[in-house]
Amino acid sequence: MSLKFRLALVVMLLMAALVASYSLLLFGEMRERADTETQGALPWVVALLPTQVGPGTPADAERELVALMQRLQGIRHVRVTLYDPASRVLARAPLAPEHVPGWLERELPSSRAVRKAVLQGDRTVAVFEVVPATSDELAELWEDFLRSSLLVVSLSLAAATLIVWFTLRALRPVDRIRGALRDFGAGVPVQPLPEFQAPEMNDIAQAFNRMTSAIDAAQQERANLMRRLVESEERTRRTLAHDLHDELSPYLVALQPLTGLLEARCNARPELGDLADSVRTLSSYQSRILSTLREILTGLHPPELTISGLQAALEQMLVERSVGGIRPIDIDLEVEGDLSRFGPTVDVSIYRMVQECVTNAQRHCAAPHMRIAITVGDATPGARRWVQIDAANDGVTDAVATPQRRQGLGTLGMRERSIALGGTFEAGPSDGAWHVRIRLPVDAVSEDEEEAA
Ligand SMILES: Nc1ncnc2c1ncn2[C@@H]1O[C@H](COP(=O)(O)OP(=O)(O)OP(=O)(O)O)[C@@H](O)[C@H]1O
Ligand SMILES: [Mg+2]
Repeated sequence: MSLKFRLALVVMLLMAALVASYSLLLFGEMRERADTETQGALPWVVALLPTQVGPGTPADAERELVALMQRLQGIRHVRVTLYDPASRVLARAPLAPEHVPGWLERELPSSRAVRKAVLQGDRTVAVFEVVPATSDELAELWEDFLRSSLLVVSLSLAAATLIVWFTLRALRPVDRIRGALRDFGAGVPVQPLPEFQAPEMNDIAQAFNRMTSAIDAAQQERANLMRRLVESEERTRRTLAHDLHDELSPYLVALQPLTGLLEARCNARPELGDLADSVRTLSSYQSRILSTLREILTGLHPPELTISGLQAALEQMLVERSVGGIRPIDIDLEVEGDLSRFGPTVDVSIYRMVQECVTNAQRHCAAPHMRIAITVGDATPGARRWVQIDAANDGVTDAVATPQRRQGLGTLGMRERSIALGGTFEAGPSDGAWHVRIRLPVDAVSEDEEEAA
């Protein structure tokens, strides 16, 4: 249950408790007041009723008293009944008592009747019976009670609505801050929070803004450092490859005809037979050193990248790896867009990351098939030009897909390269396949980079 809902509930419950206690109080008083008022009216009415009627026949007296009862129809708080001496009812006042809920009337103590005889001379001609009529008073009080309860309920509702509205309004910044924190945690770019009216909320928002800008700056600095690290490493590798190639390859290549000549001479002159084996060994060592040097040079910096460009280098590497890796694999490469002019650092990074994806597919599962899609996207307002690599291989077993799999250097390297280049990296199993998605921003090649290349 959200905090806002809980607060609203507490306010509503408090208001309901207020209404209930007010009603109980009023109800308790109502019974007391009704009782007091009716008991107070009774002696007065009894005192005002006549005890004697004028001379005449009993019928005259009866008529006079019934006429009096007619005039008493509007009487309140008491009920008067007129009896003849034989206890027959001659008249009642009022005829129709006020209506109150039965349960309410039952709550009141039963009232005691007072009787008063009416004489004509010294003969009793009729008897008045006066009973406290609480229902009149109760009806009035009941109406008052309903009116004031309605007022209290409406006021409480209005107060509760206002309190809830103010509370929700005051808590609105909390929603903004919570949303910003959630986005920040999920790595979504966050806009700075605005200034809020409540000073407490404003302090939190400004602290959040300071924290995010400090973290953004630190991340930017880290990415710059990593990018420079990657660039410098690649530059060193390229320089090393060029130096090795330029300084060693010519001599090793030049040795080839010489060893060939020595071999031919030894073969032609039997007296040099003891040297022939040494010359053959020399020749094989020399070929081995040359091919090892070629492997080292390719590892340091694939020469095809510089010679033929990224797409051709990738195609060549994939053909070689599909037959020459740990196990054969069928690889589909789809390229959408122009892969030229990313710059040497991005080129070599893409090359190495694709290479690692293929190695992993061959090493970690018996994947007979792999798809690699490279897409280049144009710059849009607010977003740089980008390249995306999607690599997927099937054949991933549940055992491989367990979260406890080890974190190797290959995935780490790909992630670090992607971050260093300001991009994103995702890898993992889904639907029985292993997916890798790398997205890198690519701008026009900087002059520094071209120079370094
Ligand atoms: N294509 C893939 N198919 C199935 N599982 C994979 C695939 N790629 C990576 N994995 C899983 O992810 C783990 C980490 O891969 P990563 O490349 O980081 O390390 P590694 O290949 O085991 O070792 P190395 O450090 O030599 O690359 C692997 O051990 C494997 O469990
Ligand atoms: Mg690996």
